[in-house]
Amino acid sequence: MPLTTPLSERLGIELPILAAPMFLVSGVDLVVASCEAGILGTIPSLNFRTPEAFRAGLEAIRSRTDRPFGVNVPLKLIDPARLEADLALCLEYEVPVIITSLGDPSAVVRAAHDRGLAVLHDATNLRHARKAEAAGVDAVIAVAAGAGGHAGRVSPFVLVPWLVEHLSCPVVAAGGVATGRQLAASLALGAQAVYVGTRFIAAEESAASPAYKAMCVRGDPDDVVYTDQVSGVHGNFLRRTIPAGGPVKDVKRWKDIWSAGQGIALADAVKPVAAIVADMVAEYEAARAALPPVGAS
Ligand SMILES: Cc1cc2nc3c(=O)[nH]c(=O)nc-3n(C[C@H](O)[C@H](O)[C@H](O)COP(=O)(O)O)c2cc1C
Repeated sequence: MPLTTPLSERLGIELPILAAPMFLVSGVDLVVASCEAGILGTIPSLNFRTPEAFRAGLEAIRSRTDRPFGVNVPLKLIDPARLEADLALCLEYEVPVIITSLGDPSAVVRAAHDRGLAVLHDATNLRHARKAEAAGVDAVIAVAAGAGGHAGRVSPFVLVPWLVEHLSCPVVAAGGVATGRQLAASLALGAQAVYVGTRFIAAEESAASPAYKAMCVRGDPDDVVYTDQVSGVHGNFLRRTIPAGGPVKDVKRWKDIWSAGQGIALADAVKPVAAIVADMVAEYEAARAALPPVGAS
């Protein structure tokens, strides 16, 4: 049976899985491998140092896959000129899925929808999710506790069904999803797709260093610290990369202090994206089959 949802069909992907954009970790190779594996490959525009490099990146992605992909653009904490340039490039290259975070996505939604492009927006609570829905986004990404990068505080077990109950647009589950068992659980909670970051740090195609990848395989959630000391916004970071006594001046945030979510516990090995996705589908099917039958007596 095909594993699709209305949202995966709307986004034109084979499976309801989005490889989440990761600063300094997602590169063109990870995007292309994700798209070719049947999920949505994505990248933050800021992984390119300049708009010119971003243009070259878009050309590279387009030349290596004809499948849909996404670009993340933060609407705040970014130089306004850079934001304007990156959004203009997303529209010029008709990036199929624009993922916004922080700020009001209304203007992006209007411009994207004029060109038939989709917009997804991150939310960590119902108030922000409602604003994003009112702005007309195609789906809200429920960023729960335990997620890599800037994470929320609410358990995915509460955040996903809470947003599903109150919104009429689709909800995507983010935070800790690393296996097909969790894909099944997320769909059961009402999500129409999952947003997977941390598991793909340990993908062969990711731009993370071998040491970073190793820390993201079979780690302990206690190795992950939730702090606002690294970037000013609360996020999850690997404890061993935070200098004793807190971040110091000459440490490059994100480059030297590595982010990862609690899902490090469930990543079994460094593998190619296609193998991680195949595992997730097999685990999803096994999890569904293992559920108790309904109405048995
Ligand atoms: C190393 C790293 C970098 C990230 N950078 C970004 C980013 O630049 N923009 C963004 O919207 N989210 C970023 N995120 C968050 C992810 O897009 C996503 O919300 C999160 O990884 C999902 O939770 P998971 O890591 O538990 O799968 C980052 C996450 C990680 C682990």
